[in-house]
Amino acid sequence: MNNTKYKWWQKTIVYQIYPRSFKDSTGNGFGDIPGIIEKLDYLEDLGIETIWFSPFFTSPQQDHGYDIANFREIDPIYGTMESFDKLSKEIHDKGMKIVLDLVLNHTSIEHHWFKESASSKDNPKRDWYIWRDGKKPGGRKPPNNWKAILGGPAWSYYKNTDQWFYFHFLPFQPDLNYRNPEVKEEIFNIMRFWLDKGVDGFRLDILHTIFEDIELKNNPFSWTLTESDKKSASLFQHHKYDTNLPETYDFVLELRKLVEVYEPERFLVGEVFGTLKELRKYYGPDNNGLHMNFLFEFTSSALSFNPKKIVSTVSKIEQILPLPYTPTYLYGNHDRDRYISRLKDNIQKAKILTTLQLTLRGVPYIYYGEEIGMSNVKFKLRTSEDPIGRKFSKFPFPIISKLIGFSLTRDRCRTPMQWNAKNNTGFTPNPEVKPWLKISDNYKKNNVSNEEKNPESLLNCYKRLIEVRGDNISLQEGSFEFINLGKLNNKCIAYKRIHEKQELFVYLNFSGKEILLKTPKSNPELIFSTLSSRKKLDIDVLDGYINLNPLEGVIFK
Ligand code: NOJ
Repeated sequence: MNNTKYKWWQKTIVYQIYPRSFKDSTGNGFGDIPGIIEKLDYLEDLGIETIWFSPFFTSPQQDHGYDIANFREIDPIYGTMESFDKLSKEIHDKGMKIVLDLVLNHTSIEHHWFKESASSKDNPKRDWYIWRDGKKPGGRKPPNNWKAILGGPAWSYYKNTDQWFYFHFLPFQPDLNYRNPEVKEEIFNIMRFWLDKGVDGFRLDILHTIFEDIELKNNPFSWTLTESDKKSASLFQHHKYDTNLPETYDFVLELRKLVEVYEPERFLVGEVFGTLKELRKYYGPDNNGLHMNFLFEFTSSALSFNPKKIVSTVSKIEQILPLPYTPTYLYGNHDRDRYISRLKDNIQKAKILTTLQLTLRGVPYIYYGEEIGMSNVKFKLRTSEDPIGRKFSKFPFPIISKLIGFSLTRDRCRTPMQWNAKNNTGFTPNPEVKPWLKISDNYKKNNVSNEEKNPESLLNCYKRLIEVRGDNISLQEGSFEFINLGKLNNKCIAYKRIHEKQELFVYLNFSGKEILLKTPKSNPELIFSTLSSRKKLDIDVLDGYINLNPLEGVIFK
């Protein structure tokens, strides 16, 4: 039984908005903040409590906002500080929460800090970034063997000062130097600036890369090509000296202290990569680090619809992050392929996975459009908006994308939100404008307006599930236990959520056949079925049994 006193952020449901693609209010083909404000009623109606916004700070948009040029301003593409304040107020007036996306690891090369830093070796901001001489003789080679996330040296040469700067991600995103106390202080002040404005939390971009080895030692060789949750290695390197350093684990304790002085409570969610054990360290030795971290297990195609693999992954998560730790469950985000495409757009399967996501112990993160079944859209790499796509267009083997679990171009999962079946799917008020990314061909069928009217739609399934979660304390605060179904374990998943006031059962049929199961209790009361028309669970023909229809998920007590 569980005696944890639950905080709001442990029970919340987070919805991620990619502002460029949610709703355009001006008719220029780019989503913006006033557009988001227009759609808050939709999110409220869906039952969302917390909204996380991918960055809308000032940026040259080379990585669409993940290259920040001013952390305290809103980019004019998206709006103004007034529009942000209005957004924040309207969200809070609805009793909802707002989470901003902070990219602490790096800035844009357009940030004035970097411009100053790059200007001369004795500039006061020189040490705000990581500058080093190249390897001797001649300094023509990068200072060490570290590789950037997408391959190639993680160093870029600047002729004017004859030195190299370090970047973990893309060459226009230089890493800040957190060993410099001025950098830390400035970043902390930026966080306070937004917290004072009332934001309820931060999503922290690639936080595992904040610190690097002070001596910049070479990374050891590894046989691993692609990143996985088994070891911190990729591109034939073990990331011993450039990620997940002990200093980074200490840094998150400082971040927690910073947000902890605020009332009501705020939260931090980390985007960190590593093994589950490494990820566990970001929660802090006494659960006093980040409030939660993204667990990316369910964004991988390996798990997609395999009950045994899902059970083993959830068991591992429960074992490494038992109560009072808060796991997270997500199927996608702005970097990953859309999960419904892995299911070949099968709505019944998507409903099973949604039931799983919203009834496991932890915080679900829903990426915009998942709720209406938005799927991957094909784009040419060469003309891709995403800088990663353009980089990959030079490689001959698209198979790499499958291996690394990333899309070759992230444009695929960032297309405009599908609001209705009209021209431009209601994304923009201008039916003539070409949106910044093309709209999916399936918008006539999969759109909010259609799905709101159809009781069997995926959207209504999300809505019903969110309501059920809100009405049942064991789904918010209960502990978690799998139920062994013996021979049926490769077809079904069953578990209990246990709270002193209530015990709930979740049974999910992953197979295309009807299945009969012994009831774990007499007179089971059906609370939810993925088939909205189903009203009753036990069957008359066989006492003590319940039946699950093909690809049906149920919740009962
Ligand atoms: C991770 C973000 O999710 C991704 O979109 C971004 O490109 C990189 N970090 C760099 O900030």
